[in-house]
Amino acid sequence: MDSLDQLKIQASTCVKCSLSQTRTNSVFSRGNPKARIMFIGEAPGKNEDLEGKPFVGRSGQLLDKLIKQEMTMEPEQCYVANVVKCRPPDNRDPKPEEVQSCFGYLEGQLNWVQPSVIVTLGNWASRTLLETNQGITQIRGKLYPFGSSILIPTYHPAAALRGRGEVLAQMRSDFAKAKQVMEANG
Ligand code: URA
Repeated sequence: MDSLDQLKIQASTCVKCSLSQTRTNSVFSRGNPKARIMFIGEAPGKNEDLEGKPFVGRSGQLLDKLIKQEMTMEPEQCYVANVVKCRPPDNRDPKPEEVQSCFGYLEGQLNWVQPSVIVTLGNWASRTLLETNQGITQIRGKLYPFGSSILIPTYHPAAALRGRGEVLAQMRSDFAKAKQVMEANG
């Protein structure tokens, strides 16, 4: 068993924060651990909590569609995870102490997968990883070095589902850019 599997088992029984008391399942990842691109969302929602997999609801359907249409890849070729592994009640934002106690799992995933490109989905995940207070509209559209990876912040699919067509158009452009950067980085 490799250490990513061990990390997943640890997360499944984790009690480091109070989200463990309300979760159905911890939600570790989906996709290919050898992927060169990793998508990072915020935290599981209701469907994800029930299924134990990230991005399985409507947001996930849009994510998969953009991967197919803008990157000409299959979702299974990518690695998908969240910053926080357990669902916050009522889908509230995770609290700083929850992020802090959970962050080691994401660090482990990043170290193990070593993606050349990281796409953060939404304001919250982008701000958390880039350690900035700037909003997604300010930080998107640029590339950020992140360890040996390039981080590309984009909107959360939920924002495109409820928002203007412009959000979806910008997401399409960010996904296409992610593909280019991935190819340029070998
Ligand atoms: N939103 C997220 O940020 N992550 C999921 O897994 C599902 C919805």
